[in-house]
Amino acid sequence: MKIGCPTEIKPQEFRVGMTPDAAREAVNHGHKALIQKGAGLGAGFTDADYIAAGAVIIDTAEEVFATADMIVKVKEPQAVERKMLREGQLLFTYLHLAPDPDQTHDLLESGCTAIAYETVTDANGGLPLLAPMSEVAGRLAPQVGAWTLQKANGGRGILMGGVPGVAPAKVVVIGGGVVGTHAAKIAAGMGADVTILDRSLPRLKYLDDVFGHVFKNQYSTAGATADLVREADMVIGAVLIPGAEAPKLVSRAMLSEMKPGAALVDVAIDQGGCFETSRATTHADPIYEVDGIMHYCVANMPGAVARTSTQALGNATLPFMLNLANKGWRQACEDDPHLLNGLNVHAGKLTYFAVGKALGLDVTSPSLALKS
Ligand SMILES: NC(=O)c1ccc[n+]([C@@H]2O[C@H](COP(=O)([O-])OP(=O)(O)OC[C@H]3O[C@@H](n4cnc5c(N)ncnc54)[C@H](O)[C@@H]3O)[C@@H](O)[C@H]2O)c1
Repeated sequence: MKIGCPTEIKPQEFRVGMTPDAAREAVNHGHKALIQKGAGLGAGFTDADYIAAGAVIIDTAEEVFATADMIVKVKEPQAVERKMLREGQLLFTYLHLAPDPDQTHDLLESGCTAIAYETVTDANGGLPLLAPMSEVAGRLAPQVGAWTLQKANGGRGILMGGVPGVAPAKVVVIGGGVVGTHAAKIAAGMGADVTILDRSLPRLKYLDDVFGHVFKNQYSTAGATADLVREADMVIGAVLIPGAEAPKLVSRAMLSEMKPGAALVDVAIDQGGCFETSRATTHADPIYEVDGIMHYCVANMPGAVARTSTQALGNATLPFMLNLANKGWRQACEDDPHLLNGLNVHAGKLTYFAVGKALGLDVTSPSLALKS
């Protein structure tokens, strides 16, 4: 199969859909890896790295789209890219169709088959192609929060780990899933005094068993949240209610009770944010102040560490990409119901029920689409 990887064109996106290592694996399996010239540069991979891996460098996105049987990307195809998709072509990337009627319309019209990273599942009920980005964002959160706490950035002027004789920062993580657990691990590793709040008792038990006294955990009630937030130097928002907007767990009124210069890092901003005063920011201008409290609310945090993120995403997508290339999408999806859960669009038909519900469109069941 010819697997094409174009340069990402969404603003501020530096990741790339295929690493040189992934290209090498594809070539070793007898496929052709077609990489657009310069596609890996944002993540620190040169054309020479891809050539050494056996890939072919292609000058333009138009040629990549025209030649490839499967397109592997990171972000949803932009309008100009959607015009280049064709009937029978396979698209494997993040799509996030539910809030995006224009993209959904264009993908349906193109006749392509589109498998969305974010809806591929695993045997534990997880989302294996979303998890790596949550891991990255979680681990990044204390790092950017620590920077926000520095005096010159408007913060309290507190060092995460303190020093002998001076107490460390108090960090509260709301939500103990993938983001929250990784955030707590790193904050604790920096020497901070960390507490995780979650509403799931099984999750709290798991955290307690695995992390013991590395960080504390508490059941998430409005009262417990208010008490901990009042004393915190940093609060990391990491809640998720699947399919819903993030609940607002820290109100504007609570800010006035917080320590001036404390930092709020709202990782859940991509679902609307879990602090009432959160609004999405960018890497170019990541922080702002409300009532003396510093807010960091970047919606695409993994982009800040494009190389790590590309490698983490590539590790997770590689086995699926190889299966799709080796078997073709029908056989690969027939053999793996978790991959079939990723099927969102096929030959002009929507095949993902939640997207159909969100956009008011008819849906064909993915298993029917497999047989069509
Ligand atoms: N900003 C970014 O760049 C970025 C990157 C990756 C993920 N995210 C977002 O981070 C959020 C968390 O993602 P995740 O992968 O960790 O999800 P997850 O499902 O693994 O974890 C969410 C946790 O929140 C808990 N929760 C739900 N309601 C709660 C409440 N009221 N109080 C306390 N805990 C509660 C759940 O029990 C669960 O353990 C999502 O919104 C995700 O989209 C953002």
